[in-house]
Amino acid sequence: MSKISVISIALFLLLTAKLPAQSSSSFDARADALLAKMTLEEKIGQLNQYSSPQELTGPQEKKNNILADIQAGKVGSMLNVRGVDQTTLYQKAAMESRLHIPLLFGLDVIHGYHTTFPIPLAEASSWDMEAIEAASRVAATEASASGIHWTFAPMVDIARDPRWGRVMEGAGEDPYLGSQIAKARVLGFQGKGLGSTDAVMACVKHFAGYGAAIGGRDYNSVDMSRNTLWNIYLPPFKAALDAGAATFMNAFNTLNGIPATGNKYLLRDILKGQWKFDGFVVSDWGSIGEMTAHGYAEDQADAAKVAIAAGTDMDMESHSYIDHLKALVESGQIKEGLINDAVKRILIKKFQMGLFEDPYRFSDKDREKRAISDPAALVLARSVAAKSIVLLKNEHHLLPLSSHEKTIALIGPLVKTGREMKGAWSIGWGKEEHVVSLYEGMQKQAGHTRLLYAKGCEVNDTSRAGFGEAIEVAKQSDIIVMAVGENAGMSGEARSRSNIHIPGVQEALIKAIQATGKPVVVLLMSGRPLLFNWTADHVPAILCTWFLGSEAGNAIADVLYGKYNPSGKLTMTFPRTEGQIPIYYNYLNTGRPAPDGPLPSFRSGYFDLEKSPRYAFGYGLSYTTFEYRDLQISKKNITAEDSLTVSFTLKNTGARDGAEVAQLYLRDLVAKPVRPVKELKDFKKIFLKAGESQTVIFKIGKDKLSFYDKDLNRVEQPGKFELMIGGASDEIRLRGYFDLH
Ligand code: GLC
Repeated sequence: MSKISVISIALFLLLTAKLPAQSSSSFDARADALLAKMTLEEKIGQLNQYSSPQELTGPQEKKNNILADIQAGKVGSMLNVRGVDQTTLYQKAAMESRLHIPLLFGLDVIHGYHTTFPIPLAEASSWDMEAIEAASRVAATEASASGIHWTFAPMVDIARDPRWGRVMEGAGEDPYLGSQIAKARVLGFQGKGLGSTDAVMACVKHFAGYGAAIGGRDYNSVDMSRNTLWNIYLPPFKAALDAGAATFMNAFNTLNGIPATGNKYLLRDILKGQWKFDGFVVSDWGSIGEMTAHGYAEDQADAAKVAIAAGTDMDMESHSYIDHLKALVESGQIKEGLINDAVKRILIKKFQMGLFEDPYRFSDKDREKRAISDPAALVLARSVAAKSIVLLKNEHHLLPLSSHEKTIALIGPLVKTGREMKGAWSIGWGKEEHVVSLYEGMQKQAGHTRLLYAKGCEVNDTSRAGFGEAIEVAKQSDIIVMAVGENAGMSGEARSRSNIHIPGVQEALIKAIQATGKPVVVLLMSGRPLLFNWTADHVPAILCTWFLGSEAGNAIADVLYGKYNPSGKLTMTFPRTEGQIPIYYNYLNTGRPAPDGPLPSFRSGYFDLEKSPRYAFGYGLSYTTFEYRDLQISKKNITAEDSLTVSFTLKNTGARDGAEVAQLYLRDLVAKPVRPVKELKDFKKIFLKAGESQTVIFKIGKDKLSFYDKDLNRVEQPGKFELMIGGASDEIRLRGYFDLH
């Protein structure tokens, strides 16, 4: 073997090598040894995190003297620093500090770094855990090759209110599905484990309850029973922790009057106590300092005292720790031991990441170049995007398009844009990447079909000046595909909307185009469930395509032309009006439940609106059809110590191959406290060829029967359970019962 090849193999092994496995006790010992050498100021420096000034992701009260502070050992971590050059610059400054403690670099790699994947709410609609894990793996590979050690993801906040802009960032309304997705993302980000140069630390956020902001208004107060907290909002956090998540981030909101950042119950009693979390907790941007605005802390010094005592280890951008902790220790208001615990948690992660062996091991120009130009990433992005699309309506099998359509009109303000397809939390990252618009995607697959185009109107404007041209273009076509919805900036952080209709005059444009009498397909592009009742009632074909990222146009064209049979299912309920919000599938029955349809007197409902949502949790159509039959329940009676299996036959009864997400719901018919009318407890995404059948099996044991009771004990209570199986929470095809003794 030539000398060159020996060297190149050695180099490859060096670059991709995972550090020799070290036991957690060795990291512990090394952290203790380093801690013993540190001054109080140096310890506090490790708890201080600054943002790069180039890409602020929050309001900055105070300019940072970054390089000088790093050299003085006053900074332990940076965020919003991207790329090998920038991370190297700051790391070199850290190496000039007295103890040469390396920096951690964190970034919001929420749905891709260089390659943009669908927004998380879209990816969740794929119900495909392998795909979600694979997308997170690619994101980690690309980000770590650019010097990033740590992503502020997965966001696992349960969301029941589509007015809240950050629903785009999570997995929707269900605890079980949210838990599976949280696990998939953590495994994807952390890969083979911390220390691998293609693994980044996950950061589970926002702990906790942020998605229940009153009124869907971002940063607003949260008030909920501990029963709801434990049964609905905490499960995805626990699933992420059990998957090995390295860090947590707390939340901006108060929970029952106490800011999450200073909430001892959340951080010390639950997370670090009951759950035995041994990583560290970073504040959300400035949230420590914000406890003064909340009216929970007198001033920054008081905020620092409250936060460190409650268990917030690292201070993102509020300067509370760096400015006040030293005086608080010296005046005896806090014990240095609190600081030692926080510092040690952070040092252990730096040891685990191998940064003391080589502070620059993630900053490698060649690896960066290779990682961000890997064509396989785009292939995956296209596949995940197609799986994320939800077919809401397809009357008379209008879709998929056929080659008979001689002329297709592409109409709407989101036809030709690539940038808007990236969605929130991606604009800025991977600036140089190309995003395939719908127009481009259709051009590549239209073959001899003539494509016409008209914008028709803007996304969020009152002008109808473009309607005339759009109508003329529509009249010249055989079928119209409309791309309407939100701009990327209408969802995400601080993007709550009180009115969640399709913005501007877009629905008026749909009406005008529909009036031409030509068949219309509407593509809804958004970061949240939208309201579009007229369109839902009158337009024959509707697809929810969210914001699908780099390969958006190609994926949508794959679905429109039937190269991929849509298989997505909604993970958030779509309401009929804002007046129904919050509306979700796993509601309690009440003492006066209303039947579907007109509201009888003295029943729980609105007398001016039916109680059902526009589209239910778990809903999504296919170009084929599926039949559920032959339900078998292995036992009619079980104890908490044993289990039963449920089996049924799923058949593809249509003419096209396709995938179905078969969903298992349970209802605990009598319980204290009462339990929801149904809860998702398992699902399987199954691909079947046309005409093919498969026996599907679910196992039911106490993990699916237990819940937190009024005393927050995890219990399973004897009694009758109803089991429901179907292709949506409101499309139950098989029903059965069993008793728990
Ligand atoms: C933001 C977000 C949080 C993000 C952090 C850093 O305010 O709330 O999710 O990770 O600041 O950008």
